[in-house]
Amino acid sequence: MTTLPTTDVHRSVSEQYTAALDRAQKRSASASCCGPVQCGAAAATAGYAAPEDALAVAAAASFACGNPLAFAEVQPGETVVDLGSGAGYDLLLAAEKVGPEGRVIGVDMTDAMIDAARANAATAGAFQVQVRKGLIEALPIAADQADWLISNCVINLSPDKPKVFAEMARVLKPGGQFRVADIIAEDLPPWLRDNALAYAACIAGAIPEAAYLGGLRAVGFADVQIVSRLVYTAEQIRAVIATDFADAGLDPAAWDSIVGELEGKVASVTVTGRKPVASTCCGGCC
Ligand SMILES: C[S@@+](CC[C@H](N)C(=O)[O-])C[C@H]1O[C@@H](n2cnc3c(N)ncnc32)[C@H](O)[C@@H]1O
Repeated sequence: MTTLPTTDVHRSVSEQYTAALDRAQKRSASASCCGPVQCGAAAATAGYAAPEDALAVAAAASFACGNPLAFAEVQPGETVVDLGSGAGYDLLLAAEKVGPEGRVIGVDMTDAMIDAARANAATAGAFQVQVRKGLIEALPIAADQADWLISNCVINLSPDKPKVFAEMARVLKPGGQFRVADIIAEDLPPWLRDNALAYAACIAGAIPEAAYLGGLRAVGFADVQIVSRLVYTAEQIRAVIATDFADAGLDPAAWDSIVGELEGKVASVTVTGRKPVASTCCGGCC
């Protein structure tokens, strides 16, 4: 097990997602037809027979806020990189698109997520999928590798988003494109920004739209735009929190006040853009 140069924020987020994955796997095991002994992650590592079972296992452990691949015209033989690949649902979808000649590389910092994604890829027979341990602020990938870069509800969790944007620009091939589903938020109260659970729930670390799009343009990306947007209602904010962290021993009254403060300020978006072919930028250093 490699140790990464993580900050307190990384460690807290990683712990929260280790626990959230465990709860998701237990939920899906107890909801399944064959009981907790055989289903969920244990069954994934023991090996399911059919690829669609791996997709179902990965889907049950997904913490997505969008569907970035729905906006990508990925072709057979291409290379897709997924930032913060979690239990691997988008990796499996990308593998279907690139086919056996293509490559899919997932990067995640959380060991439990990496183990789950590798198990799901193996079960699906998706041998073109690799899952690498690393930080999205320092991707363990050489420059100019990816035709497509995707990410699903992860960049908001980074304590250094400009570094992530610079890494995206470094790893994409000239002419390569990104499709990122993420959360943006306007005017969050300062006290909420310091709440570790709200941070891990993809809310407290979210930045405003102008800062997000501006950060992507600053590293040289072209055609940066939001192509889908869902502004969360109070019920949806409550559902996000409840889905990911319902069993985390939270005081529901505390969440009531958080939900009230957040209504209308938080949105799930899909952001698209491309690295120009003749880029004069090199990942934020121009
Ligand atoms: C909200 S989950 C999303 C997982 C996956 N994309 C999905 O749609 O289910 C966030 C994931 O990103 C990973 N992550 C968060 N911050 C990261 C960072 N700075 N570097 C690498 N991985 C990170 C977490 O370990 C977790 O697996």
